[in-house]
Amino acid sequence: MSSLLEIEALRIEFPGEEGPLVAVKGVDLALDEGEVVGLVGESGSGKSLTCRAVMRMVPEPGSISAGTVRFDGQDVMAMGRGQLRDFRAHSVGMIYQNPFGSLNPVLRVGAQIAETLRVNRGRSSKAAKAEAIALLDRVGIEDPERRYRAYPHELSGGMCQRVMIAISTASSPRLMLADEPTTALDVTTQAQILELLGTMRAEEGMAMLLVSHDFGVIAQACDRVAVMYGGHIVETGPVETIYHEPEHPYTRALLNSVPELDSAGNVKRRAALAGHPPELSEVIPGCVFAPRCEHVQPGCDQVPMKLMPVGPDHHSACPVRPFAGTGARTTGRGGAAADAERIEA
Ligand SMILES: Nc1ncnc2c1ncn2[C@@H]1O[C@H](COP(=O)(O)OP(=O)(O)OP(=O)(O)O)[C@@H](O)[C@H]1O
Ligand SMILES: [Mg+2]
Repeated sequence: MSSLLEIEALRIEFPGEEGPLVAVKGVDLALDEGEVVGLVGESGSGKSLTCRAVMRMVPEPGSISAGTVRFDGQDVMAMGRGQLRDFRAHSVGMIYQNPFGSLNPVLRVGAQIAETLRVNRGRSSKAAKAEAIALLDRVGIEDPERRYRAYPHELSGGMCQRVMIAISTASSPRLMLADEPTTALDVTTQAQILELLGTMRAEEGMAMLLVSHDFGVIAQACDRVAVMYGGHIVETGPVETIYHEPEHPYTRALLNSVPELDSAGNVKRRAALAGHPPELSEVIPGCVFAPRCEHVQPGCDQVPMKLMPVGPDHHSACPVRPFAGTGARTTGRGGAAADAERIEA
């Protein structure tokens, strides 16, 4: 059975003075119907571009230079204008980090929801208004009739994000693209919005691609996770596996940078990852993480990155396996023979 969304060998470039700058370097990612997949990684790793490529909305002057995106078996890259418009209107919804920036500041929020219902679902003005009020109520906005007439600046960030969720789910899309939907919100509101997204997703049976640089958000909301670094996916797997048995040194470093409480309830500060992510202009033939990896071995910077199976539904792009079988968040080394075998393979 094919997946709802299949991204294969996706490559996204920007023009540079000395040749193209490659921001996404051959990403493979699939989502099944109703599945929630998290895309996690530090700033600049290519999460937003990957997400936007699904709708063919890579910002200019960027472009998708290679790869395929298929939705329900349809080739999104080959869609004509009308087909693409229908696909964006009916099949996918998108929520961004900044809810204020995504809403039209000079239109009342109710009118913005009603407009979506009129254009995308062919509702009459009267039906669209009634449905928009019902949607405001459904996304947890109190006194929806009054809020219908509010302008975005009259609402809090959390409320604006609820409005965005109402707009993006108004067409009952089969896939929701949520790019850092809670990053701009305080922790309490963040939890409420995540819960709302979870409820809407379950009720509508939508699949969701949830982008975040926060592993806590991913752990709370996702079935599966893909970890991005330097334009590559370096590890994928079920969220529990990635959390408890991360394989790739970058995933380990990312998890280790999350502060934890010790048994006495004190915050344990963890070491931040030393060094910087690669510049777009850097061309690294092998592992993009090799320059920062404390487990780097000769050849790591030469072996092309490739996701390889390391467990059930678990793939890692590390050519050595410094942590194989050592459990979570340990820094012990092991499996030297296996390492050598993998690096030669
Ligand atoms: N319009 C643009 N022009 C030039 N480079 C761009 C543009 N948009 C993105 N990039 C580059 O592409 C790379 C990936 O960007 P992307 O926005 O996908 O990162 P991200 O993982 O979403 O990061 P963040 O967590 O900061 O949102 C970055 O290095 C960025 O500088
Ligand atoms: Mg982003």
